[in-house]
Amino acid sequence: MKLQGPTFCLREWRLTDEAALIKYANNANVSRYLADQFPHPYTQTDAQNWLNFITGVSPVTNFAIDVNGECVGGIGVEFRNGERRKTAHIGYWLAEPFWGKQMMPAATRLMVNYIFDNFDIVRLETGVYHPNTASMRVLEKAGFVKEGIGKKAIFKNGEFYDEHVFALVR
Ligand SMILES: CC(C)(COP(=O)(O)OP(=O)(O)OC[C@H]1O[C@@H](n2cnc3c(N)ncnc32)[C@H](O)[C@@H]1OP(=O)(O)O)[C@@H](O)C(=O)NCCC(=O)NCCS
Repeated sequence: MKLQGPTFCLREWRLTDEAALIKYANNANVSRYLADQFPHPYTQTDAQNWLNFITGVSPVTNFAIDVNGECVGGIGVEFRNGERRKTAHIGYWLAEPFWGKQMMPAATRLMVNYIFDNFDIVRLETGVYHPNTASMRVLEKAGFVKEGIGKKAIFKNGEFYDEHVFALVR
């Protein structure tokens, strides 16, 4: 499974992504506004746990972002369940040397089309911690709409963050 972007592709994770994953994910600037499941420091064990968990999963809902054969980030969805089963949560990260090149808006658009084309999902959503204006811009450029703000919804790095809820509804 491969989705072609302008300067990158989205492809399945491989066990051989381990070294690049550690190199790029072990960066406090990357993990600062991500969920606790993306730890800092990001160790070899964290990388191995992720790759062992995600490789071979079908259907593919998590992609590595690949530039010239190297994994430089990730983007994926988690399906909600029960009465929220038509909703999926989207998450993403990019290695710091690649920031500011419009890669993530393009990756998000690819992912949105892939999910809406292949799954019975009508709503994609995510929550952005309030200092993360770069991620809010990504979502706006990919067509998401800010629906509201959860005041002090997040406690991380020893402080409270408001959570800005973004969604794209088919
Ligand atoms: C948020 C993130 C995905 C942005 O991806 P990107 O491919 O750099 O996105 P863009 O190139 O469209 O830039 C988005 C915004 O980032 C800011 N930006 C641009 N270059 C930047 C740089 N070198 N450093 C920091 N921010 C930068 C700008 O505000 C830009 O908005 P603009 O295009 O309106 O000026 C990326 O910074 C990242 O992976 N951050 C860490 C993980 C994370 O926060 N994930 C999202 C959790 S909700």
